[in-house]
Amino acid sequence: MKKLIPGLVMLLTASLSSAVYSSPVDDIAAFQGFFAERFKDVSLEQYKDGVNALPQYADRRGNWELLLDFPPYEEHVEKGRKEWATPFANGKTFADCAAKWPAATAYPWYEAETDELHTVVGDINRCLEENGEEVITNLKHGKIARLVIAFREQFNGQKMNVDVSHPGAQKIYEKGKQFYWAKRGQLNFSCADCHVHSSGQKVRGDVLSAGLGHTTGFPVYRTKWSLAGKPLGTIHRRYGGCNNQVRASAFKPQGPEYKALELYEAVMNTGVPLSVPSQRQ
Ligand code: HEC
Repeated sequence: MKKLIPGLVMLLTASLSSAVYSSPVDDIAAFQGFFAERFKDVSLEQYKDGVNALPQYADRRGNWELLLDFPPYEEHVEKGRKEWATPFANGKTFADCAAKWPAATAYPWYEAETDELHTVVGDINRCLEENGEEVITNLKHGKIARLVIAFREQFNGQKMNVDVSHPGAQKIYEKGKQFYWAKRGQLNFSCADCHVHSSGQKVRGDVLSAGLGHTTGFPVYRTKWSLAGKPLGTIHRRYGGCNNQVRASAFKPQGPEYKALELYEAVMNTGVPLSVPSQRQ
């Protein structure tokens, strides 16, 4: 039953949204326009700071900035840079693979020939495989998060700009959009219920971040995660946590659902600069 309900909701939303189709360009304007209206003093660039960008969080922002004088993620970033630069058994490195990748701001990118959506996590594992190395199986924290940071941080300050003009990319984009707006779980909440309609409001001591800017700081270092000894998390780890919060089951990291969701969020972030990694509560 628990599994059936979200499926049904997605089906209903699918039929609804096909009746009111809007292009990604229109969607970006509507999404960003909503936040421009709601948080008048927050510029598009500032959404890279997640919840710290919102006026409702202003009293805690000072603490956050203080923390960043000696960022708790620094040792992990250093380790990731070393792992990134360490040659494989065949002498090649990740940089050799990345020379053929698009900029981090263009991820996830769509490959028309194979009808495949590439994430940074997926391309890192593909690189390992092509070079005869073992792929990384934990796709939520630890080494994979460090390597994603090592790649993405090279593009810090550059603005998100994902191309979904190909019909194949648009199909995946539509799936992600439906996922974002569909209600799910025993609490019957959509992502948009919390991160659009309730953004800036408090739930159990947390302030809800704006959906705008999501993904630009990832992987992040979370104090909450650090208490369990796994401080870094990929964006799909976070999606799983948010699904669990509404008592819906999480989907597999790098499965089609979260990849589509990442694409939708990345497109909504068009124009927001990367700020990788970030620290979050
Ligand atoms: C019941 C409310 C709720 C729902 C529903 C929810 N989230 Fe969240 N989410 C939170 C809270 C609370 C946080 C931590 C504070 C924050 O950054 O908003 C969070 C954080 C996040 C973050 C981290 C932002 C950052 O910059 O660190 C992302 C990304 C995210 N949510 C995406 C999603 C997506 C995608 C969905 C739908 C699958 C979703 N959330 C559904 C409550 C929710």
